[in-house]
Formats: sequence, C-alpha cells, structure tokens
Amino acid sequence: MKGPVSITAVGTAGPDALVIDFSDGSQAEFNLFWLADNCPDGFHPQTGERQFDLLSMPDVPVIKSKNILANGCVELQWAHDGSTSHFSPEWLLAHRPGVRRDDPAGIAPVLWTHKDLPNGPPRHAASTILSSDAALGSWLTDTRRYGLTLVDGIQGGGEASMAIARRIGFLRETNFGQTFEVMNKPDPNNLAYTALALPLHTDLTNQETPPGYQFLHCIANDAAGGGSTFADGFAIAQALREADEQAFLTLATVSIPCRFFDSDVDIRTRRPVISLDENGDVHEIAYNAHLVDLIDLPADTGNRWYKAYRAFMRLTRDSTFCINFRMAASEMAAFDNRRILHGREAFNPETGARHLHGCYVDRVEFDSRLRMLAATQ
Ligand code: OGA
Ligand code: ZN
Repeated sequence: MKGPVSITAVGTAGPDALVIDFSDGSQAEFNLFWLADNCPDGFHPQTGERQFDLLSMPDVPVIKSKNILANGCVELQWAHDGSTSHFSPEWLLAHRPGVRRDDPAGIAPVLWTHKDLPNGPPRHAASTILSSDAALGSWLTDTRRYGLTLVDGIQGGGEASMAIARRIGFLRETNFGQTFEVMNKPDPNNLAYTALALPLHTDLTNQETPPGYQFLHCIANDAAGGGSTFADGFAIAQALREADEQAFLTLATVSIPCRFFDSDVDIRTRRPVISLDENGDVHEIAYNAHLVDLIDLPADTGNRWYKAYRAFMRLTRDSTFCINFRMAASEMAAFDNRRILHGREAFNPETGARHLHGCYVDRVEFDSRLRMLAATQ
C-alpha cells in the first residue's frame, strides 16, 4: 500500500550523524551540521536565502533530544543553545544525501554527427516563440538537447532576432557590443568581419567566461559562397576520447593562453580546450585556433599538447561530424557556443551582400528561463 511517507525511527550513527528509517523501507544518514545548516527554518521567509550562521554551532554539535511529533515531523533540540529544528518526512526523503534537487533545465545533451541530422537542425517558428510560452519552452529544450536549432520566419531586421533572444533573458554584452554585425567590413578587427572562410570554432575563448548561447540571424545571404557549417564539439571530444584517451586528457588538463586584441582592448585568459565536470563528462569546448596566443608551455607539455590538439583539429575537418547548409534571410541559428563549433565558407562580396546579426545569452539565463517556464506549466 502506497501512502504518504512517514518516519519510523530516528537513531544516531556515530558522533556526526543521525540515521532515519522511512516507512517505505529506506534509510538515510544525515550529518549534524547539514541538518542545522539546511533546516528550512534557517532560510529567510521572503527571499528564501540562507540566514543560518554555520559558525554559531560548536565544533562538536550535540543533540539534546529527538522526537517524532504528532504531525509526523522530526524535532531536534540542540544542546549548545536549546534551539529546535523541524523536518517533515517528505522533505528529509527528498533531500537525503547525494540526491540532487530536481532541475527542469538539466536536459541531457544528445550528441550528433552528420548522419543524425539529415534534415538539418530542428526548426522552430519565430512567430510562435514570440507568442507562446509552450513554443518558447520547446525551442529551448531542443536547443539544450542538440545544442543547435534554427528559428525561421523572423519578420524584420536585427531588432526582431534580439526580441527572440530576449524572450530567454538579457543579452551578454562583450567588447563587440551587445549585438554585432557579421559582414565584410573595410577595417576589420576580427576575421568574421572579412569575406574569408572561418574554420569551425567557438567564439571568444579569450574571455574569462566565453558567451553561452549564440544567435546568428541571417539578414542577407546573396553573395556567392558563405555556406554555414556546424559540428557537435561534444561528439568530437567523445570520438577523441575513444580513439586516444591520452590526447583527450591532455586537452582537458593543459590550459593554453587565449587572446583577442585590437586598438581598444587586450583580453586574455588561459583555459583548456575541453572542460570536464566533476563526473568527468565533457562540460565545455573552447576551440578557436585564431585566438590561441603564442604557446608558452614547457617543452614536454607542449609536445604532448600539439599532438593532442592536432588530433582534435583533424576531427573538426572530418565530414562525418559536420552539417552544411546555407542560411536564408529571416532564419537564425541558435546554438550553445561552449559546445557547438560553427564556421562558414569564404564568400565573394562583389556578387551580393552577406549580413548576419549576432548576439549572445549566457547559459545561466537560458537555464533559468527553462526552470521558470517549467514552474508555470
Ligand atoms: C562569427 C562567425 C559565422 C558566419 O561571427 O563569429 O563565426 O557565418 N560567423 O559568418
Ligand atoms: Zn564565430
């Protein structure tokens, strides 16, 4: 018989922890500092922020009494100040050690190669994204999952795609402005502002935090050439890991200098090409050959790094990972700039105009919108 969970016993597990038995047969150990520090009573009732001061506890906390109240909650009384903490069975079960808070933005990436997207990236309509929260949520979910989507039917110029990006959250400003115009410019400070080909890359690896999601809205694409290429950097990193684990680990552990400079700024940082999360899963890719500063690694590390970097680079040139298509005016590519590599063919500006309008929204704003949409569904 399934019903509301209750607590059947509260015991001690050594000097540091309580052990709680639940009516569903499960048992969990709770650290004493954790119980005081995470008790719902210790959070501000309006802001929800923690007010409890962890150092108000002695180094060896002692529980004076522990009772299961008539309403099923556990009440603990602390010996050092006589204060009490209260916990419901549901709350304790939901937050037992090692259980992460439910996260509607925690959408697992689906890695892809050329064969997985025969019709190009998933498409979403601008008009419904603008008018419907459900459509916004479905677009963001696909963009989170595949790292890349196309929005079509954008009515208007750069303002129109900014309005779509702002449905997610505020824009990430960089030294190129809050938005940027990708076109052949007379005095370029960036290879993107020429008519040259751009090999696959992620943007702004020289920044302390490279922008999260990128939006490239095609305003005109009338020149000969200028086709777009995208590849899933997570899939490339996984292929490298399978083919040459040492090369993968070298790119994940060796930080290299990255730099952008022009007449106004000189922005530098050091980072690895592949960033792993605490589980060892690929979390971010930062790959931009044009922004790698003079390599200054010790000789033996440099030898290893060059081999590994060339192996990664070679995979980015392998057509099995790439999808190629021509962006049409009124379409916008939306992609995770810390996962998806993007590039373009050279174009001939004599034959027509090519103009993309770009902006960025960071990952945290993107994920926040997904959570807020989930909360109102
Ligand atoms: C860029 C870029 C791609 C393109 O502006 O960073 O990569 O298709 N542009 O012009
Ligand atoms: Zn770029």
